Amino acid sequence: MAPKNDLLLRAARGEKTERTPVWVMRQAGRILKEYRDVRSRLSGFIELVKTPERAAEVTLQPVDILGVDAAIIFSDILVIPEAMGLPYEMIESRGPVFPETISSEKDLEKLRIAEAESLGYVAEAIALTKKELNGRAPLIGFAGAPWTIFAYMTEGGGSKTFSKARRMLYNAPGFSNKLLQMITESTIAYLKSQIAAGADIVQVFDSWAGILPEAHYEAFSMPYIRQICDAIDEVPVIIFAKGAYNSRASIAKTSCSVMGLDWNMNILETRELSLGKTLQGNLDPATLYADFKEVERQTKKMLDQFGFEKHIANLGHGVYPDIDPEKVKCFIDVVKNYSEQKLSKGRDNTSL
Ligand code: CP3
Repeated sequence: MAPKNDLLLRAARGEKTERTPVWVMRQAGRILKEYRDVRSRLSGFIELVKTPERAAEVTLQPVDILGVDAAIIFSDILVIPEAMGLPYEMIESRGPVFPETISSEKDLEKLRIAEAESLGYVAEAIALTKKELNGRAPLIGFAGAPWTIFAYMTEGGGSKTFSKARRMLYNAPGFSNKLLQMITESTIAYLKSQIAAGADIVQVFDSWAGILPEAHYEAFSMPYIRQICDAIDEVPVIIFAKGAYNSRASIAKTSCSVMGLDWNMNILETRELSLGKTLQGNLDPATLYADFKEVERQTKKMLDQFGFEKHIANLGHGVYPDIDPEKVKCFIDVVKNYSEQKLSKGRDNTSL
């Protein structure tokens, strides 16, 4: 049997590790030619998500090709609206689009709390992936945070400002809370089904946290994130709230195990307010456009700032689609070699 790699799980629990574990947000798909080959044999992204054998195959690609310390199940945060009764389409080079949106109490009647059974294809992909991983790396399950999912369901797709979604928070807070609560209950059932199928840890992506003012983030995102953290006690939970600068202390107070940092979050400052939690992140994804020497220099600088405990190395957001996979590999290799070097030096010193 392959040697077991549980560095990420131990770091998430705050335990000491031989080196810093590393993975990359959006590591599956996007940058790998091997992914595009698999997708081209199907009708598109959504069929790939719903075909467990193929989803498992592309989940494993970054483990084999890039050497990351964790796999993240190949799926999308938008499977939750679909399971609630609001299907999406994925338009090539444009992104997700919802033919119908939710804009009133009346529309809520169209929706249901998603049942885990309707997302059985994800559970199946997780079970298959776990079998094929055979302990080589832990498997991360994930979901969008309720606010981010709310934003897509009311806006109907991506947006710079998410004005329709934000207008709701000002004009229809009662409706907003009802929809957010429905999303939250759907998400908890969904994450629990991922864990039952074999997910070793789960990450909640609040990708649009940063467009809310602090008071709205505290009122319309934090209560729901808290509910999710409290409901999931089987495995560690990572909260990645991009741009939630003013709510880092609130996130630290939840029962999550790991806080994700985007690349603008100051590492030392976040350490101070993190109440001893493990931190994840946060190299600027655009650093990977620089040459190899610069990627190495910036990665080492980041590792030194986080220190060599309670850290999971990652980018500060998903890898950009036009990044050379060799640069991603360089980032991963530098994390592994440099942290191992630093930690073995530490051990040598203490044994003197
Ligand atoms: O590598 C992985 O992490 C694979 C699994 C994954 C996907 N989406 C696959 C995907 C994950 C974790 C996500 C999360 C996701 N999806 C988020 C949160 C993370 C973030 O980046 O903030 C968000 C906001 C979405 C919604 C979404 N899905 C958008 C805006 C788009 C279009 C733009 C793009 O490429 O991200 C998607 C499509 C999508 N999801 C693709 C992949 C591989 C690209 C589709 C394709 O080219 O096949």
